[in-house]
Amino acid sequence: MYRLRPVGDRIVYSEPMFLGERIRDLAELPDGAIVAWVDRGVLLELRPSAKLSAFNRFCSGCHQPTFGVPAGPSLVGLMGREIASVPGFRYSPALAKLNGVWDEARLMAYLRDPQKFAPGTSMVLPPLDDVLLAELIDQLKG
Ligand code: HEC
Repeated sequence: MYRLRPVGDRIVYSEPMFLGERIRDLAELPDGAIVAWVDRGVLLELRPSAKLSAFNRFCSGCHQPTFGVPAGPSLVGLMGREIASVPGFRYSPALAKLNGVWDEARLMAYLRDPQKFAPGTSMVLPPLDDVLLAELIDQLKG
């Protein structure tokens, strides 16, 4: 079973989900929850957690996945860090050629519209509203 993240008509991210059970059958409930019937003979109900932070909902899948190779560079210590400076990460030429350090204003601009901030950047994001952007920036400062 995979969790897929669509942006428009593209799947930008896919993550295998570990249940620790062998799945016999799956059904979707009217509210979007998924019920899995597993070998043990029990039903497991899966639903997105409403408690996930904005970072975990929108960013960690690429920047801090629970397993697998991250699609994006580490964001640890981002504020005040030189743009495109994580050693060994293969940045797009678009981001690599930018000068300066990450501050609130640059981050806001990049997250609001990656292609406008760095035309050709390889980061793809869904549109994020101002409340979410503020929450994200707070988290990345902390
Ligand atoms: C679909 C995968 C994906 C998602 C989701 C994603 N990123 Fe990225 N991110 C990338 C990639 C790939 C790059 C490198 C971009 C480049 O080189 O042009 C990147 C680069 C960045 C950078 C520049 C880092 C540096 O070292 O200069 C920041 C900041 C960033 N992402 C923040 C975020 C935040 C915050 C979120 C959540 C709102 C997010 N990203 C979601 C893939 C992703």
